[in-house]
Amino acid sequence: MKDRRETVSVPEGVDLDHPNAARVYDYFLGGTANWAIDRMLGDQLSAVVPIIRTGARVNREFLGRAVRYCLRQGITQFLDLGSGVPTVGNVHEVADAVDPDSRCVYVDREPVAVAHARVLIEDDGDPERHVVLHEDLRNVNEVWKRAVATGVLDPSRPVGLLMVSVLHFLDPQEQVSEVVAQYRSFLPSGSHLIISHATFDAVPEQERQQFQQAVELYHHSGNPAFPRPREVIADYFGDFPLVEPGLVWLPEWHVEDGPAKTSALLAGRPAACCFLGGIGVKP
Ligand SMILES: C[S@@+](CC[C@H](N)C(=O)[O-])C[C@H]1O[C@@H](n2cnc3c(N)ncnc32)[C@H](O)[C@@H]1O
Repeated sequence: MKDRRETVSVPEGVDLDHPNAARVYDYFLGGTANWAIDRMLGDQLSAVVPIIRTGARVNREFLGRAVRYCLRQGITQFLDLGSGVPTVGNVHEVADAVDPDSRCVYVDREPVAVAHARVLIEDDGDPERHVVLHEDLRNVNEVWKRAVATGVLDPSRPVGLLMVSVLHFLDPQEQVSEVVAQYRSFLPSGSHLIISHATFDAVPEQERQQFQQAVELYHHSGNPAFPRPREVIADYFGDFPLVEPGLVWLPEWHVEDGPAKTSALLAGRPAACCFLGGIGVKP
């Protein structure tokens, strides 16, 4: 496997003086699109919250299971918002393994994530079916217009819309509910909305305290995160009925379908991952 850092020079606009959540997450997943400043924050976070790496991997496994679930329902095109650095198990890899004609538009606001995603698509993807957009997901009209304009997404057919481990990076004042509602309104009937989101609700006390410290570290590093109550996360699905088993701890969501190697480590105490997730279907 090629070291992606050898193939991507530091892209324009990348701030290497401050850590970045996308690159820290890549570090947790064992990727290569991270720098010393990111690894320093990653190590600080791991020291405070030993389970944080596991949490990142549990999240990535949920993403894989969710994409495969969608494919089983006949969804073959995906819009991945806050896609991150495409390390192992990204959406188009998972989808292509099931349906070689599947399509994916990636969107991220972080230049390193975008640059690495583009290299990956050049190396392993198909430009006719895989596109990476550098955009802030809060610019809903622009994101949707550009995603459709790529020709990769057909807006008349159901879409798998992923908002996986990203909405908690949006400030509450930025009206997250309105942003998600606008995406829901654009989706054609039968589309699947996939969300995972950090929460403190019902998390065991030890992990809750640790995660509180991690949130503070994120704040100080310039990457604020906002875990939210279960009912707020549930509201993001609007009137989309949730597929079984509903909005649950990630290690409880269709683990039988895999990948779920890391999730299995939390089988006895799934709430320790601090992440809820689910899929809603547009009526
Ligand atoms: C924790 S990573 C999640 C990556 C991937 N979705 C996953 O679950 O494996 C969060 C990603 O969201 C991106 N992000 C945060 N806020 C964003 C925004 N407003 N618009 C687009 N991307 C954003 C970050 O740059 C980062 O790459």
